[in-house]
Amino acid sequence: MSNKMWAGRFSKEVDERVNDFNSSISFDARMYKQDIEGSVAHATMLGECGIIDPEESKTIVKGLKEILSDIEEGKLHFDPNAEDIHMFVEAELTSRLGATGKRLHTARSRNDQVALDIRLYLREEIKEIKELVRKLIETVMVLAENNLTTVMPGYTHLQRAQPITFAHHVLCYAQMLLRDMGRLDDTYKRMNVLPLGSCALAGTTYPINRERVRELLGFDEVMMNSLDGVSDRDFCIELACAISILMMHLSRFSEEIVLWCSWEFKFVELDDAYATGSSIMPQKKNPDITELIRGKTGRVYGDLTTLLTMMKGLSLAYNKDMQEDKEAIFDAVDTVKLCLTTFIPMLETMRVIPENMRKAAANGFINATDCADYLVKKGIPFRDAYKITGTLVAKCIENNTTLEELPIEEYKKMCETFDSDIYDAISLESCVMQRKSQGGPAPEAVKEQLEYLRKKLDEK
Ligand code: ARG
Repeated sequence: MSNKMWAGRFSKEVDERVNDFNSSISFDARMYKQDIEGSVAHATMLGECGIIDPEESKTIVKGLKEILSDIEEGKLHFDPNAEDIHMFVEAELTSRLGATGKRLHTARSRNDQVALDIRLYLREEIKEIKELVRKLIETVMVLAENNLTTVMPGYTHLQRAQPITFAHHVLCYAQMLLRDMGRLDDTYKRMNVLPLGSCALAGTTYPINRERVRELLGFDEVMMNSLDGVSDRDFCIELACAISILMMHLSRFSEEIVLWCSWEFKFVELDDAYATGSSIMPQKKNPDITELIRGKTGRVYGDLTTLLTMMKGLSLAYNKDMQEDKEAIFDAVDTVKLCLTTFIPMLETMRVIPENMRKAAANGFINATDCADYLVKKGIPFRDAYKITGTLVAKCIENNTTLEELPIEEYKKMCETFDSDIYDAISLESCVMQRKSQGGPAPEAVKEQLEYLRKKLDEK
């Protein structure tokens, strides 16, 4: 005799390979807590509404709680032959309570049950990811506070462009990460809607009270279309998308750290605890963590693509294809948490080398715009000033010198307006200090940015 729930309808045992192929317990067992939490709320509501006997409802709730503590204490192990976590918990309950356990699944389907469990599970994950992002922003802010006057070259096309400070540079990542927190909040809002009560797809004839279940489980609203309740996985896609963007930010930051660690830059040095050596080249100290984060970003994009592709051809409502959602979204969540947990202490212990940043800023005519602006402030139209400075730069390159070292006579030869105060105007420090515009690199502007970030973080 088959032990499957649906044995009555079938005349044969399911093929063992099909059994394994169908089973999701190996990856959905992690939702055991949420599954039980959802069932407790459902059973409570069934009892309150008189759909099952209130005494039996209490027995079920007690039984479920015992199953939960037995799992957590390691007394109860998941049966790898169970089809999924939902079947496992229900079968366990029935083996403990007999007929009473069999009443739990009244006015419910695994279709709305699984939709509920994933939402409950991911809701918690979002909170954790958000706190990690907050921690990372705070780490970046400390790095900025310590480097308000650390001059470095700002780049476009990876060519030295204009001088900025290290504080200004890293705070760019704080802004990206702040938007990531916003995206996680948005995802949470749309995820926090109750699907339970949609049942298989068409609701139920039992007088259920969905509002009560919503309240018990802390959802903001109830899903208003039962087909949508069981066939929607937008919340997984949205989360995978938010995580993908977050990973993209971590990956860009990582790429820069890889560059900065190279001997060509040597702007920073990673702590020995966060770098690795080579098995053959004794001199090597490799930024493996950052490279792995860059690599894992591709993997998370893969998860997002899996989800989008999985959903795009599905007719309403539930289809078994949707069982594939879990491995993809769990992988995205696990990966981003792993990356953040490693990246944060790596950044905290990273040593900044201001001398090398300054050296890199001092060459490469990074102050050419300031030289042109000097003329503009003395009345020359910008386009003319731009041309004069360009010619001076060409001359410097030809004579293997810099704008700082070029004698005043050479300046005057190009344009009478130049005076000896040009050297002050193009010194790296004044180039940075003068860029006081809102959002700019001058320390006072960066301090304003830090205050802004602090305020935004406090609101989140
Ligand atoms: N393990 C299934 C999943 O993850 C649960 C829902 C099964 N529903 C069904 N009608 N077969 O999607």
